[in-house]
Amino acid sequence: MPRLAVLGYPVGHSRSPAMHNAALAELGLGGEWSYEAIEVAPDAFEQRVRAMAGEGFAGANVTVPHKGAALALADELSETAREIGAANTLVFAGGEIRAENTDAEGFLRALPASPAGKRALVLGAGGAARAVVWVLLREGATVEIWNRTELRSQHLSEELGGETVERPEQPAYELIVNTTAVGLAGEDPFAELPLAADRFAPGQTVVDMVYGEEPSALLAAAGGEGATTVDGIEILVQQGALSLETWTQRPAPLDTMRAAARAA
Ligand code: ATR
Repeated sequence: MPRLAVLGYPVGHSRSPAMHNAALAELGLGGEWSYEAIEVAPDAFEQRVRAMAGEGFAGANVTVPHKGAALALADELSETAREIGAANTLVFAGGEIRAENTDAEGFLRALPASPAGKRALVLGAGGAARAVVWVLLREGATVEIWNRTELRSQHLSEELGGETVERPEQPAYELIVNTTAVGLAGEDPFAELPLAADRFAPGQTVVDMVYGEEPSALLAAAGGEGATTVDGIEILVQQGALSLETWTQRPAPLDTMRAAARAA
């Protein structure tokens, strides 16, 4: 009876258990596999993870604020996780802990088209921004990074690449990605971010990693101006599908996962 879980702090809002349990049922693994949410504080994280293999866990997702700690404690890192500096997926096998990052590839799969050659603006400089900047650069996009605290975006661009920008020219971007927490607690994105509600354009793709209210104020405005929008649930689904495939070695049922994540 392999167990799976998402580890976070807090984790009560997570849609991952509903999404993964629906997927396991669809795959006919519902009687065998299960996926739960485990709330664990940072000071207890390492001990909790090290106990999991002995408790029947085959793997885990790791979310805020544990993505750096997950990388640090792993015995083996994927190249992606190492380069991004964060892990969202752990695999327990043969007494070892393997760390992977499916956030970057999940983000890429959620986009409606390849970002190659496109001019992209990434808002934010936290862990989510790192995965997005890393994969956009790998795919050949031109990446500009804005962050409220400029020192953090400077560090990010020095480490991973891209250029920092203080005053983004909103209509010039083909892709705009909000990785900040703005909107999570109902903040007005157009007060907190260097974007105007009426300066989106058709032909732009606007991504908001924040999910909660559907659609977010950012995506409602972007969609209203004719831009293509991608929400945080689609990214959750895509990264979750890649994690599930890593653990079960079975193709993930995307439609089932999407429906469960949206209903949760
Ligand atoms: P994550 O790993 O999810 O990216 P994080 O490291 O806490 O989380 O980063 C949160 C991001 O949201 C940061 O870029 C943060 O900006 P600062 O570096 O200036 O703190 C951004 N953020 C949070 N609240 C914000 C606000 N009200 N306005 C602008 N940016 C905000």
